[in-house]
Amino acid sequence: VSLRPYNTFGLDVRARYFARFASADELRQLLQLPQVHAAEKLILGGGSNLLFTQDFPGVVLKNEIRGLEIISEDADSQTALVRAGAGESWHGLVEYSLDQGLSGLENLSLIPGTVGASPLQNIGAYGAELRDTFDHLEAVEIATGALRVFSADECGFGYRESVFKNVLKNQFVVTAVVLRLHRQARPNVRYGAIAETLAELGIEGEPTPQDVSRAVIHIRRSKLPDPAEIGNAGSFFKNPEVSQAKFDQLKSQYPELPGYPVPGGVKVPAGWLIERAGWKGLRRGPGEGTHGVHARQALVLVNHGGATGSEVRQLAEEIIASVRKRFGIELHPEVNIL
Ligand code: FAD
Ligand code: EPU
Repeated sequence: VSLRPYNTFGLDVRARYFARFASADELRQLLQLPQVHAAEKLILGGGSNLLFTQDFPGVVLKNEIRGLEIISEDADSQTALVRAGAGESWHGLVEYSLDQGLSGLENLSLIPGTVGASPLQNIGAYGAELRDTFDHLEAVEIATGALRVFSADECGFGYRESVFKNVLKNQFVVTAVVLRLHRQARPNVRYGAIAETLAELGIEGEPTPQDVSRAVIHIRRSKLPDPAEIGNAGSFFKNPEVSQAKFDQLKSQYPELPGYPVPGGVKVPAGWLIERAGWKGLRRGPGEGTHGVHARQALVLVNHGGATGSEVRQLAEEIIASVRKRFGIELHPEVNIL
């Protein structure tokens, strides 16, 4: 089976076996099949955070579990619990919540991919993260088929991090996510660009959750390449954290270096480092170039068409080496490389 339609980098790789599941029971049945049991498995959502560098030798299990519902309302805290099937589109869930008059997800508008993948890296953007509204998730253990519930604490969320990416990697399939959302609007416009964009869109006074969503969508469309047009998986690297001493030293050399305080140090935008190291807009490969670094966002590596995953990985390795040499900072991929 060609995986080309199933990864936003648009890479033309093949999987040995491919199956879909629309419920936790269907998933359990699949996991019991001898061919599936014995094979290497890849749980696939929207394929928007993956870089395939070769054909996948095992079985790809595509999550198509649907369902969006409000499962309870709490009058005291003015919150509602929303349960979403893991195969629902993330942005579909954001729209559903806004239609239901619930706030909390608007800053995370338009992030590609599925609900089920959202806890894996604790998706975040524009001043919000999944963990801000996360209540619990349901997951099936691959080895046993048993259903397990994970509280927020048990998920070990961090910046682009959770237990499902490290200690429990490849052990559970997320089948549903439950979020606690607010009946009363609580606009979060800490992220500077949101306020600017609201003004630009002519929105005055206290913005509604829909307004914030519109502003976020506007910003995202102006910066990030649409995978339907240019293959990519969003930010290729995480933004690195450095010590205050290291930051001060760099800042004396590069006074324009941006940085955001975090516990234990300063977070530096990788996009700035990569741009400053001269990579922004680079194109490689025959003709006008098959792959490279996005011209409007240096943190996004792109497949203009016809590139292979290994070529993209090669480019990523060169960028890591160049940033290390120039700034003494180690970049780590955010994208899952297979
Ligand atoms: P996939 O790519 O299909 O899978 C990603 C990983 O999760 C794989 O390891 C997979 O095996 C695993 N996985 C998927 N589903 C499950 C499941 N149900 N159970 C267990 N494991 C599972 N991310 C952000 O955080 N913030 C952003 O602002 C952002 N912007 C982006 C913009 C663009 C244009 C693109 C292309 C990507 C962006 N991303 C962003 C990255 C991506 O959208 C998220 O990582 C998203 O959560 C991936 O979802 P997916 O369903 O496509 O996952
Ligand atoms: N910058 C540059 N040059 C560039 C790109 C960025 O100098 O080419 C600098 C600028 O100083 C800018 C700063 O980097 O002010 C931050 O840029 P931006 O607001 O575009 O955000 P980012 O740090 O590049 C992060 C997330 C995104 C998320 C946005 C918005 C990571 C790895 N990436 O990007 O998430 O959408 O913030 O919150 O944390 C993703 O994970 O795939 C993703 C797109």
